[in-house]
Parts: sequence; structure tokens; C-alpha cells
Amino acid sequence: MKTQTELKKEVALAACQQLTPGMLLGIGTGSTIDLFIEAMAEMGVLPRAAVSSSERSTERLRALGVEVWPLDRLEAPLDLYIDGADEVDPQACLIKGGGAALTREKIVASASRRFLCLVDASKEVSVLGSFALPVEFLAIAQRPVFWALQALGGEPRLREGVITDNGNPVVDVHGLRIAQPADLEDRINAIPGVVENGIFARHRADEVLVATPSGVLRRHRPATS
Ligand code: A5P
Repeated sequence: MKTQTELKKEVALAACQQLTPGMLLGIGTGSTIDLFIEAMAEMGVLPRAAVSSSERSTERLRALGVEVWPLDRLEAPLDLYIDGADEVDPQACLIKGGGAALTREKIVASASRRFLCLVDASKEVSVLGSFALPVEFLAIAQRPVFWALQALGGEPRLREGVITDNGNPVVDVHGLRIAQPADLEDRINAIPGVVENGIFARHRADEVLVATPSGVLRRHRPATS
């Protein structure tokens, strides 16, 4: 039986096959992406430059000699954004933010032509929401933001001791069954004081590579939704 880390490593290696020389890459955050960064070095396919979604990934890329650019250096969208996820539904909508990097992740995804998501099979769900939904918010707005999240049917729990790279706290919202991800993504982002939430429906993945015990599967997002 393969471990989750072995599966993450396999999907990281599979993602390297989609890279071509001279690419400008958007790089996400998390343990899968740490393995992907290592895999790019192992396979000799490091990008020309990258835009990173976190200080953590920036450090790892720079340690391998990859130039990390700010978004404002781009003259056109990035070729490809690669990131992990906490949950993936059949429409390739995601929950992200377990590593608290959701806001920058969504910004870099929005600045990319294509989003390739790397997961192991344990992340696949029929409906999003078993994984508590991360929401980054401004500290001064904690009370009203929590009330509004409760009114949407969730149970907000502050992520103790965590401050994002943007200097804000994160709340994890338990108990949501997210059958209409795009609608809930918009509703939560309309709450005053919310910076960003971890539903990626407006910026869902174009392709998901899923590491299973019998190999890596490619799932393209359905065209009609
Ligand atoms: C980081 O904020 C997250 O969005 C990660 O992409 C997500 O939590 C997946 O993390 P792992 O690759 O560590 O499972």
C-alpha cells in the first residue's frame, strides 16, 4: 500500500511531463508543491522564472536557483499555474487554503492561462465541504464576519496562531455542504471584511492529476459547467 506522500510524489513527477523549456510558471503552496518543486529539479525541468503564491514556495524555488518574479513584472498571463488542493469535486471545483495561502493562490491562478491541480485520490469528493472551508479576513471584522458565516449555515472556528503572508487571520468554516460552489464563493466574498475564501469555482482547475494506487489519472474539467 502506497503512503499519501508516495502518491504525492508520483503526481508531482507526472506534472513535470507537462512542462516545456522556457515556461513561466505560477507555483502554489503545500506539501504536494514542495515535492513538485523538488521533482522539477530532479527531472531537470526548472522553469525560466516563476511567480509564487507564498513565502514558503518562494524560498524553495530560490534555493534551487529559480528566479521568482512579482506579478507586476508580467507582460502577459503565466503559461501555467500548478497547485495542490484540499478537496476536488467532479466539476474540478476546489477547496484550498489548508496551508493558509488561498488569497495569493487565487490571484496567481487568475493570472495564468491554465491551472493544473495535483492531488492524491483521498482529495476527491462528490460534494465539497467535508474539509472545513478556509476564509482569510481582516482582524477588525472578526465578529461580523463570523455572524455572516453562521447565517450561511457554517460553524466558523478561528485558526489559532496562524497569520497569512498578507498579515491576516484565517477562519475555518465547518459543516458546509457546498453543492453550488460558485454561488457560495461569491456570497462569502461579498461579506465586508472577507479578503478571500478557499472555494476555487470561478478559478477551478482546467485539469486535475489524481494519484491513485494504480497510477496517475488525468481528469479534464467538464466543458459544460
Ligand atoms: C495551501 O494554502 C493549500 O491551498 C494547499 O494547496 C492545499 O492545502 C494542499 O496541500 P497539500 O499539498 O499539503 O495536501
